[in-house]
Amino acid sequence: MDGKALAQQVLDRCAAKVEIIKQSTGRTPCLATVLVGSDPASATYVKMKGKRCEAVGMTSLRVEMPQETTTEQLMAKMRELADDDGVNGILLQHPVPSQVDERAAFEAIPVSKDVDGVTAGGLGEMWLGIERFGSCTPAGIMTLLRAYDVNMNGAEAVVIGRSPILGKPMAAMLLNANATVTICHSRTKDLASVVKRADIVVAAVGKANFVQGDWIKDGAVVIDAGYNAGNVGDVDFDAALPKASLITPVPGGVGPMTIATLIDQTADAAALQWNVQL
Ligand SMILES: NC(=O)c1ccc[n+]([C@@H]2O[C@H](COP(=O)([O-])OP(=O)(O)OC[C@H]3O[C@@H](n4cnc5c(N)ncnc54)[C@H](OP(=O)(O)O)[C@@H]3O)[C@@H](O)[C@H]2O)c1
Repeated sequence: MDGKALAQQVLDRCAAKVEIIKQSTGRTPCLATVLVGSDPASATYVKMKGKRCEAVGMTSLRVEMPQETTTEQLMAKMRELADDDGVNGILLQHPVPSQVDERAAFEAIPVSKDVDGVTAGGLGEMWLGIERFGSCTPAGIMTLLRAYDVNMNGAEAVVIGRSPILGKPMAAMLLNANATVTICHSRTKDLASVVKRADIVVAAVGKANFVQGDWIKDGAVVIDAGYNAGNVGDVDFDAALPKASLITPVPGGVGPMTIATLIDQTADAAALQWNVQL
């Protein structure tokens, strides 16, 4: 599954939306990105997100805060962005330094500006089947599954991982699409036999080449959300390839879809906030 090509299509459609918003309001949609500390990988991700924003004609407001930032200082900045009518979406880059209460900082984002789908309110809405702004990686995966006409109705879906940004919202979205969903984690017994039942497997573990080829049922759709050191995914790609009917590569699969989803959801947030019909 070519996530890179599909992400470009999403961004092209998003650029058209941004143009409509600009013409109807005379204003430019804006994503605020907040980076706390100096982790090089996080800095690169934030830079990439800013660049993609500008490529579709939106503004990116880059907020950088020092490594020693306190929870109170970060919350004050998040509230300022929440109250700024010119900011349509807010992204707090994960992870933040250990002294900061990340959950509290996420919760300072109003659900209407939660374009990264990280708040308890956003996740709660997702489980209730109210789809507003999904957590970007699973929402990008859903766009991929739909673009490739994967039948989710009644399908056995196995999600490996239960993090609040990936495994849990992924399970909710698959459930909302009428899949029968199993969520696996580090305490799951006999993971291989659970994965062998799956028509759709989503690996979100954070361990290189973790999912083995012989765990994959013939004809299964394999989504590798992992991104480990050296551009390696969570699935042993070469071993899974002959078994899978569709599979995402790393890189070039899920990763580009995540950023495209974030940018697209920011345009949608701007349209909702400024009453523009898209
Ligand atoms: N492409 C993208 O845009 C994108 C975005 C976000 C994340 N990612 C990648 O996705 C992967 C997962 O990210 P994350 O933030 O969800 O990671 P995370 O918070 O570390 O969660 C990992 C999950 O995997 C489970 N797990 C760990 N070892 C396991 C085992 N032996 N068997 C079964 N489950 C196991 C953990 O279970 P417990 O809950 O029991 O500990 C946990 O639920 C990482 O490679 C990350 O880099 C990619």
